[in-house]
Amino acid sequence: MRRLLLSTLLVALPTVSLADPEQVAEARRGYFALVGLEFGPLAAMAKGELPYDAEAASAHAADLVTLTRYNPGDLLAPGTSAAELPGKTRAAAQIWQDMPGYQAKGAAFLEAVAALNEAAGAGQAALAPAVGKVGGTCKGCHEDYRLKDF
Ligand code: HEC
Repeated sequence: MRRLLLSTLLVALPTVSLADPEQVAEARRGYFALVGLEFGPLAAMAKGELPYDAEAASAHAADLVTLTRYNPGDLLAPGTSAAELPGKTRAAAQIWQDMPGYQAKGAAFLEAVAALNEAAGAGQAALAPAVGKVGGTCKGCHEDYRLKDF
């Protein structure tokens, strides 16, 4: 399974898109908003801010896995960085200058999410470190490829 997901990601290079660049940026932000929405309760459970609930944790982790199966190629259409669309996106132009680096961050995220999916239902003690690892991959990508401000 992991091998399949990784290979999906590796072919997820930018594709020619018919969408308007602003639409692409909006969709990309929507995608990451979904990632954030699903990860939020898991982070809260890991910190003990939300009571641990095996069923809910498993469901959020499964949704994250589903999101990692989405081929993000269309969201990386050229001409959609913050340099080209100021105020509309925080996607750093660096993504397009260093696509292999960005892909590597994506691969680390994907692997951490797969591990989280296995740990999510196995108790708070198993969940917390797996959430920490995923969180590290969010931060790792944002540091290099997401601007702090619009
Ligand atoms: C491979 C790189 C990468 C990984 C991994 C990643 N992000 Fe992001 N994220 C981005 C980029 C790039 C943007 C900026 C998108 C834009 O503004 O067009 C972003 C934007 C966001 C946003 C703001 C969306 C909006 O409404 O503008 C949230 C929330 C977010 N990410 C959460 C997360 C969380 C939580 C994780 C981990 C569970 C994560 N991201 C993992 C690259 C990544």
